[in-house]
Order: sequence, then C-alpha cells, then structure tokens
Amino acid sequence: MATERTLSIIKPDAVAKNAIGEIISRFEKAGLKVVAAKMLHLSEEQAGGFYAEHKERPFFKDLVGFMTSGPVVVQVLEGDDAIAKNRDLMGATNPKEAAPGTIRADFAETIDANAVHGSDSPASAEREVAYFFSADEICPR
Ligand code: TYD
Ligand code: MG
Repeated sequence: MATERTLSIIKPDAVAKNAIGEIISRFEKAGLKVVAAKMLHLSEEQAGGFYAEHKERPFFKDLVGFMTSGPVVVQVLEGDDAIAKNRDLMGATNPKEAAPGTIRADFAETIDANAVHGSDSPASAEREVAYFFSADEICPR
C-alpha cells in the first residue's frame, strides 16, 4: 500500500455542529495523520474554483452558496491508502445512502450539506492539496 496524501474539508454544517474534533478523531483512529490544517471562510471565487469540475451541474450554485455559508476546516491527511481510506470513512455522497458508522451517516442528513469533502483520486488529491496549501504549510511527520 502506498503512502498517500489527500485533501479533507470539514464543511460548514459540521463546523456549525461543533463536530470538528469528532471528525478529526475518526481520521486519527483510522491511522491517518493530519500533516496540514487551517480554518477558512471561503469566498465564492475560492469555493467555485475548488468545485470547478461541477460548474455545469444544476447543484453548482447551491453548492457554492453552502460552502461559503460559514467556516470550514481544510486538512491534508497522510497515510497508507489515504485517498480511499478517507472516502470509506466519509461514506456515500448522499447521507441517506451512507453506510452506518460513516461520517456522513452520523453527521449529515442531506446531500447538499454532507459534512465532509475528500479527494476522489490521486490526480484530484494533488490538485486539491495544492489549491489550499503551499509546500511549506505541510509538515511531514
Ligand atoms: P461529488 O463530487 O459528486 O460528491 P463527493 O463530495 O462525494 O465527492 O459532489 C460534490 C458535492 O456536490 C457533494 O459533496 C454535494 C454536492 N452535490 C449536491 O448537492 N447534489 C448532487 O446531486 C451531487 C451529486 C452533489
Ligand atoms: Mg467529489
């Protein structure tokens, strides 16, 4: 298994629920290490650029509205198979379809406010980590 890095975002709904610690705890218990982290209140430009792949989708405007509705916590997670491991911990995009015990099943109710983001491939992880963090903001451990 390869050591990978992936980008995680604790979204505004989960920050508002005061669930930052519980969510990060799940990453740590699963063996993922936080190697970079910051809290940000995203601008429309930042959120729209981050989700550029969804620009033409009908939910794009609402997604940007939601992602700019309050602060988020962005982190780089590092570990064996980090990209897939994080996606497993997150659960399905729609919390109603997310497996029991996953973050989205436990902290979210609807697809448009689904608690967390995680990169879905090595290429997106590379782009998304660089979108939020410069090399000197990442602390290998
Ligand atoms: P997507 O990349 O498909 O899901 P994931 O976050 O699991 O990688 O979609 C990005 C976000 O867009 C998703 O987390 C929530 C939002 N979204 C909707 O609001 N409605 C939808 O029908 C879809 C597919 C996504
Ligand atoms: Mg996605």
